[in-house]
Amino acid sequence: MMYSAKVMEHFASPHNVGEMPDANGVGEVGNQKCGDIMKMYIKVENNVIVDVKFLTFGCGAAIATSSMATDLIKGQPLSEALKLTNKAVVEALDGLPAVKLHCSVLAEQAIKAAIADYYRRQGIDPTPIVGEI
Ligand code: FES
Ligand code: FES
Repeated sequence: MMYSAKVMEHFASPHNVGEMPDANGVGEVGNQKCGDIMKMYIKVENNVIVDVKFLTFGCGAAIATSSMATDLIKGQPLSEALKLTNKAVVEALDGLPAVKLHCSVLAEQAIKAAIADYYRRQGIDPTPIVGEI
């Protein structure tokens, strides 16, 4: 199995790792295929994700995709972050081996779950905006 240089880079030194005590949106998702878990923290100001952190209890591909995904949504408006697909994250990493593609789904779902949590805390029903998670 071959990992791209970018995947190895983000696995070895992932960006935006950790907890965020003052996050105003937190999402946690699990991967049904392997049992791995990802937690995503966002801080939203004026509809923009000004900060993001993640914790992944999972494989290297999950860590690399979370790292890249957080880089891609940091500083973005919520509407743009919601458009981020796992495919775009995989492309930004120059690909993943086919058997590891399911790992990239965690990051996309964790971002959506964190955004949904943010809306809920604002008293807004997230389902019409974020969809089912
Ligand atoms: Fe082994 Fe995820 S299933 S690390
Ligand atoms: Fe479980 Fe990668 S093997 S997320």
